[in-house]
Amino acid sequence: MRSYKEVIECVYTDVKNITDTGKVADYIPELAHVDANNFGVNITTIDKESFGVGDFEKKFSIQSVSKILTLTLAYKFEGVKLWDRVDVEPSGNPFNSLLQLEADSGKPRNPFINAGAIVICDVLLSHLKNPKEDFLDFCREISNNPTLNYNEKVAESEKISGFRNVALCNFIKSFGNIKNDVEEVLDFYFYTCSLEMTCKELSEIFLYLTIDNFTTQKGERVITESQTKRINAIMLTCGFYDESGEFAFRVGLPGKSGVGGGIIAIHPDQYCMAVWSPKLNKKGNSYKGMLFLEKFTTKTASSIF
Ligand code: DON
Repeated sequence: MRSYKEVIECVYTDVKNITDTGKVADYIPELAHVDANNFGVNITTIDKESFGVGDFEKKFSIQSVSKILTLTLAYKFEGVKLWDRVDVEPSGNPFNSLLQLEADSGKPRNPFINAGAIVICDVLLSHLKNPKEDFLDFCREISNNPTLNYNEKVAESEKISGFRNVALCNFIKSFGNIKNDVEEVLDFYFYTCSLEMTCKELSEIFLYLTIDNFTTQKGERVITESQTKRINAIMLTCGFYDESGEFAFRVGLPGKSGVGGGIIAIHPDQYCMAVWSPKLNKKGNSYKGMLFLEKFTTKTASSIF
């Protein structure tokens, strides 16, 4: 940890002073209220040592980072049958694109684009009695953190502005790949996106994606070794939409971003790292977050390649 600490402090100062060319997401009105200068980083190692700098203890909207959590729970329920509903191919398109769905007959390219995550939410709706409560309980349980919660203002703000997601869900339903009521699926999807966490909490909850840590903080198994490997593989190939190749090229770790400006990156046999900086680049990924991770993995020679 000592050497990680030093590199984190040094890279943090370096990146903090760089002019940020990104923009805070405002297509969900509530997200635009966030202070654009927030910048936090937290690492949790496989030995459960934790270290953070900057705004690492401030809650923020994790948005699409939650797509890993919904995928994990749906995969637990469905096993390999899940892949009949959603593919595992990079889309090469923006996260909210409708383009490929028609050619692919309503089967989304992967679970990390909006279309795929909406299908995953539909799968969960078919398994959970009280979807919002049950999903939150799952997140609290795997992180051993009873304080986790949704931000209702963010969820409601997206509900009145999420026209593309409404279109996606209806379009997929027209192909028969949404089984439940469209409004219920979308309501659940918007709530999952509104989950709030700090960088510290994020780097802890995803420890189950590291080797030897398929278990929760409490020592309970979350998913199998094979499922862990596969989720990491989808993160590496699809976690950053049409910038997934760039992230693998520059950072070299499985990861996942959200339009709240958060990024989680997993080194499967060393650590889990969360970075938050709200200004996004043109592809919807945190500008400073990506830069920080690129410099960090370079300096510590800790990419998976
Ligand atoms: O559905 C949406 O548009 C948002 N709730 C989540 C999008 C997102 O985070 C994509 N990330 N880069």
